[in-house]
Amino acid sequence: MCGIIGFAKSGNAPLRCSDVLVEGLRKLEYRGYDSVGVAVVSKNGGFVIIKDVGSVDRVVKAPEFEVLDGSVAIGHTRWATHGKPSKENAHPHTDCSKRVAVVHNGIIENYLELKNVVLGEGHVFMSETDTEVVAHLIEHFKKLGAKPFEAFKKAVAMLRGSYALAVVDLDEPDRIFFARSVSPLVIGLGNNINFVSSDITAFVKYTNRVVVLQDGEVGYVSSSEVYVEFNGRPVDVSSRIRLVELDAQSIEKGGFPHYMTKEIFEQPYALAQTFSALQTQNISDVLRVLEEARKIYIVGAGTSYHASLLGAIAFKRFLGLDAEALISSEFRVISRAVKWGDVVIGVSQSGETIDTLLALREARERGAKTVALVNNQFSTIARESDYVISMRAGPEIAVAATKTFTTQVLSLLYIVARLAEFTGAIDVDYKALIQGLKMSHEVAQRVLEACTEVCKAIATRLAEKQSAYYLGRVFGVPIAMEGALKLKEIAYIHAEAYPAGESKHGPIALVEEGFPVVFIYLGFLDEMLESNVEEMKARGAYVIAVAQGDTVLGSIAKYSNAVVKMPKAPLEVRLITYVIPLQLIAYYTSVIKGLDPDKPRNLAKTVTVI
Ligand code: F6R
Repeated sequence: MCGIIGFAKSGNAPLRCSDVLVEGLRKLEYRGYDSVGVAVVSKNGGFVIIKDVGSVDRVVKAPEFEVLDGSVAIGHTRWATHGKPSKENAHPHTDCSKRVAVVHNGIIENYLELKNVVLGEGHVFMSETDTEVVAHLIEHFKKLGAKPFEAFKKAVAMLRGSYALAVVDLDEPDRIFFARSVSPLVIGLGNNINFVSSDITAFVKYTNRVVVLQDGEVGYVSSSEVYVEFNGRPVDVSSRIRLVELDAQSIEKGGFPHYMTKEIFEQPYALAQTFSALQTQNISDVLRVLEEARKIYIVGAGTSYHASLLGAIAFKRFLGLDAEALISSEFRVISRAVKWGDVVIGVSQSGETIDTLLALREARERGAKTVALVNNQFSTIARESDYVISMRAGPEIAVAATKTFTTQVLSLLYIVARLAEFTGAIDVDYKALIQGLKMSHEVAQRVLEACTEVCKAIATRLAEKQSAYYLGRVFGVPIAMEGALKLKEIAYIHAEAYPAGESKHGPIALVEEGFPVVFIYLGFLDEMLESNVEEMKARGAYVIAVAQGDTVLGSIAKYSNAVVKMPKAPLEVRLITYVIPLQLIAYYTSVIKGLDPDKPRNLAKTVTVI
């Protein structure tokens, strides 16, 4: 995930170029912070490009930044996806003639294919990024006779994947061309100045008049004009102008009251990003070692362990493989069983959790192959593993993991689907599985739209309670565990998850009038929950059901005090999205109790002690 900003102002606008850029880049730093760069159209008609690794504060200290002068500029905060953080890989990227400068947020899935096309024509690349190809494509179409904006549109038409693009072409230096697909992009309409950015916060200091662009829209802004088109036809966006009201504190969080809400609500985007990222990575070596594996271990801590559990069930259930999830810190206890020929997948958002790192080191020492599934591809775990799969879900700032759980589950299911394809497993419809995973972001969006209000209402009930159970079956168990962990972490309510069938072997002793029990009706072996819900209800439990809206099971309607109605979706999508209402319930419970969900007591985002 990266942040982009661009502005075009007239001579009448009293704003200083460097001030506008610094303000925008600082506000976008939450989207990426490994490198920063800007391109400004200078008075002599060329570009001044300043870029480097490091934070915004570090990069803007360069003496030449302070004296930047120009009316059209673009800027970028980077969170590396293709190519390590380095000056060369920092945006903006230019074409060979240095007349086109590009900043990009997203992932261009077919960049290698496109790069080969322009390499064949003698273009020279300066970076390892997927982005640079856009500048060369524009140059390519201009050489064929296209005008700058036409060349930009032709280049965009060739891209697959996710992108928010801002491009300046010195042959039309008053305009910033833009395009959006999946990655967010907004236009800000000011007085004698117009903006494009990933986020309103980057320019809200100067204007609160905003147009949110939609997928597939392309266009340009100048100091006096905003032009948008879709499928080649002009779009009148005047009716889409909104006035936004953001206070200083909410600006930091992209308009959300907490980083946690921001991260919960950006899950559709994170899922789309991760799916794109997975598709662009060549994982055939990973598939080969998994195919040959004697046994597959999946290790992780906390939320990452819950994703590992779900992944292990998927390896067993879909592919019949011997897979086991283990808590990282317990791994050393059983590591004598780990042998040459085994594969150990380490799941970690940060890639720095010491327990997971040590488990993977131990696994390598014992001759197993290690695969890192991480959100930070430059982390220690990634560096030390034999193979790396990078989720690229964007930085997660709230202590409680949310979007990284859904993207970890997506990634593990993607590996399962690709392994089914690789091994020719005849009983798995891998194409349907991949198709399901591809649409998971749309379902996540529908869940957020449909379920937030009922989750708030449930939170009002839970906020008064001391304890809660979360029950599910098979795949539903790790989801229940994740829901219970969230409630404990940020709402300080004791919560435990069990396989529902276990509840009668002890846990039910605690249940009395009003005791909350959350049932995860995944639409997979739901009938096995029937007797458990009856048993709970008979003891006075307050039953909360998370279930597909059209589910016919009588027990849901008969015994539930509250139902979170989930959209209908294939199983693989439900495995990813069922946790979302549980995150919302925990979040709103925390807020209702007057707690700060972003800073739960006694916890740290990354645990680097044993
Ligand atoms: C829970 C949470 C932690 C982490 C755990 C592992 O909300 O955030 O339980 O999941 O510390 O962290 P990573 O995934 O960075 O290894």
